[in-house]
Amino acid sequence: MTVNVTVTGAAGQIGYALLFRIASGQMLGADTKVRLKLLEIPQGVKAAEGTAMELDDCAFPLLEGIDIYDNPAEGFEGANVALLVGARPRTKGMERGDLLEANGGIFGPQGEALNAGAADDVRVLVVGNPANTNALIAQQHAPDIPAERFTAMTRLDHNRALAQLSTKTGAPVSAIKNLTIWGNHSATQYPDLFHASVAGKPAADLVEQSWLEGDFIPTVAKRGAAIIEARGASSAASAANAAVDHVHDWVLGTSADSWTSAAIPSDGSYGVPEGLISSFPVRSSGGAWEIVQGLEINEFSRAKIDASVAELTEERDAVAKLGLIGS
Ligand code: NAD
Ligand code: LMR
Repeated sequence: MTVNVTVTGAAGQIGYALLFRIASGQMLGADTKVRLKLLEIPQGVKAAEGTAMELDDCAFPLLEGIDIYDNPAEGFEGANVALLVGARPRTKGMERGDLLEANGGIFGPQGEALNAGAADDVRVLVVGNPANTNALIAQQHAPDIPAERFTAMTRLDHNRALAQLSTKTGAPVSAIKNLTIWGNHSATQYPDLFHASVAGKPAADLVEQSWLEGDFIPTVAKRGAAIIEARGASSAASAANAAVDHVHDWVLGTSADSWTSAAIPSDGSYGVPEGLISSFPVRSSGGAWEIVQGLEINEFSRAKIDASVAELTEERDAVAKLGLIGS
């Protein structure tokens, strides 16, 4: 079987880093053929054509075809996996409400197009910011697609947290298990190491509380801004890598010995209001995410989770007020 993968914003930075990884088999496995459907705005089509020429030139054995579209109805027709990367960035003088409204104009119609034409098994990952709320908008415009098929990316935050803890402890990333990102993909996110282990030892016993509060949490939460400051553009290759990780684990399953993080619709677990697309500790099996249950949440973590969830609730209320989702 060939899997149809739609990528929006295909001519952008993340698109350029992502498409080659998908076509090489790193996202869906070395036995799975893929057909790429690149969705751009009309101004982006020519650059997408250039990227498609380069994809051709790689002669990837798994790549069955590439099509380029500038309308969502065609772009999402038959999609089994949809990576919603293209978004309206915040520009000078733009208020938060303006940003949410501009993205509502993208993710609402994309949700409708997914609803109308995507394959029955479609799985959607939203990368374009504000990712959690954009995912909620798309989901709310796609009533016929099971709600849990809409997810937003916090895997980059998860990977950043792994890297920071690895550097601090000197242990390889592979020795670290069960880190969690909670909440929103924003500076309020909470990277939680209280359930994590490093080479079998509790992570919290290996680091000082001052490092946790003054270094680890702010470094992970503000890493996106630090990359923009250093590179003059937002993270692209690491974001593409995280998207590959997210879809790989969703479709093929997480490893038995650790969980990961993804923003998925809340079922009310851990006091997160039902329906919010919030990051949780998750495992995947049989192609579906499950929230890891039964973790004890200490007072410190509770306050951090609540703060990020409050921001998500505000964003949801703001888009409802703008009429971008029902209230
Ligand atoms: P970019 O500006 O390089 O590319 C965006 C592309 O999207 C452009 O080619 C543009 O033409 C296209 N586009 C805009 N509107 C579109 C629409 N309606 N349909 C289809 N295509 C459309 O940006 P980038 O660096 O690739 O980043 C993309 C998004 O990902 C941004 O919103 C960025 O903030 C976000 N991001 C998220 C994470 C995360 O962890 N969730 C990490 C990094 C970046
Ligand atoms: C990131 O985490 O790198 C991005 O979400 C930053 C951004 O604002 O694009």
